[in-house]
Amino acid sequence: MKISIIGCGFVGLITAVGFASKGNLVKAIDIDQARLSEIRKGRVPFYEEGVEKLLKTYLNQENLSLSSSLEDVDESEVVFICVQTPPQLNGAIDLKILMTAVKDLADVFKKSAKSRIVVIRSTVIPGTTENMIMPIFQQNGNLNTEIVFNPEFLREGSALSDFLNPDRIVIGTNSAKAGKVISKLYTPFNAPIIITTPSTAELSKYASNALLATLISYSNEIAKICERTPNTDVEDVLGIVHLDRRFKILNGEIKADIVSYLKAGCGFGGSCLPKDLSALIAYAQSIKEEPFLLKAVAHVNKYQPKRLVKMVLIALGGLENKKIAVLGVAFKGGTDDLRDSPGLKIVDELLEGKAKVTIFDPLVVSLQLQRYKDKGVIIASSLKEAIEDVDVCIITSNASEFRSINKYLRNKKLIIIDGRRILKSSKKIKIAKTYYAIGLPKERIYIS
Ligand code: UDX
Repeated sequence: MKISIIGCGFVGLITAVGFASKGNLVKAIDIDQARLSEIRKGRVPFYEEGVEKLLKTYLNQENLSLSSSLEDVDESEVVFICVQTPPQLNGAIDLKILMTAVKDLADVFKKSAKSRIVVIRSTVIPGTTENMIMPIFQQNGNLNTEIVFNPEFLREGSALSDFLNPDRIVIGTNSAKAGKVISKLYTPFNAPIIITTPSTAELSKYASNALLATLISYSNEIAKICERTPNTDVEDVLGIVHLDRRFKILNGEIKADIVSYLKAGCGFGGSCLPKDLSALIAYAQSIKEEPFLLKAVAHVNKYQPKRLVKMVLIALGGLENKKIAVLGVAFKGGTDDLRDSPGLKIVDELLEGKAKVTIFDPLVVSLQLQRYKDKGVIIASSLKEAIEDVDVCIITSNASEFRSINKYLRNKKLIIIDGRRILKSSKKIKIAKTYYAIGLPKERIYIS
């Protein structure tokens, strides 16, 4: 099938190479010439396993081509719109970029009577497809244009694998014909295909991400209770919760992956969960349905990073001139994405308290941290360097490198604050003078 993808960002580029890998003829379109020239050289403007290799393959095989002109959608039967829908200051979704792309596309279609299907892949609040996007094409006289909402469920760090091995394909449309065509496009991916209303499809994306956020904030709430309950540890408490047979699949042989979100830490971040949670809260309020639970999920998450700073205050008595290493400033391990990163929220608080901060993250290059370097923050180039001469180190990402911290520990006076509970075994904890952790009550803090 001939398809076009508008927007060569994280979702658009992965969608483009993914469909190209199934033999479709794909035209990837972006207005950003600098981004296009990078992609033309086979370079992916973000860190994502496997994308670069596929990009180069299909650019050479010519079933993936690039353009900066919307006019080039003309041959396509299906046009995907994958532009960003960032949050406004009040948390509500900002549709400006999306609506501009929709209007420009409707203008291009005006010149042709060809029937097409426009697929919105950008995350939008319920009602956007039917009440805002469809009327643009109808008013433009594009009566042969069918509209579909098709949410993506891609995770940073495993996005290509998530696209090629989807757990579900959701097609939100009022057109039986469009439903059939898009179902056919996704058939080679061998996943359950759900054809539903556009609003159900739009809301299902938010409901999915809000559930993940809820699981994390629930885990952090249990951790808070453990921190004030002698002889408990949130890792033990949630470990028992995970054993519930209802979290097991295949007759109890395998534990469902989702239990990994039932883990206490320093709060969720990234470009999706925080944005989608605040957009859903704002949407619920706009329809006069107060989202008490979702607001509480956001509230717990807002204060979680502060709990780690409080542990530093308890350990050191103050922040001024204290030397503190923050290990992991990407929002999670396996990515270099700093957006809404709990680690950086902690760095900001430490700097406010006039601490001397060192940052280390295996995937984040110092260029991304220029504004912190300008504030005198040291950007370490290795874990060893980061912890060799500091009073405290705070683990704020689950990057696998941090599990081996004891290999580099020479500094016996070090206080470790484990914000991701990745140092499980007690022998690892014995490497430090003192070990604090999320979800550990004060009498269980390890002091050598
Ligand atoms: C998320 C959803 O997982 C994905 O389906 C959706 O399409 C986009 O938003 P992403 O934000 O890229 O993907 O990453 P994810 O791995 O879900 O991490 C989100 C937050 O949850 C991070 O702060 C991460 O640290 C945390 N997390 C992630 C956990 O606490 N436990 C996990 O097992 C995975």
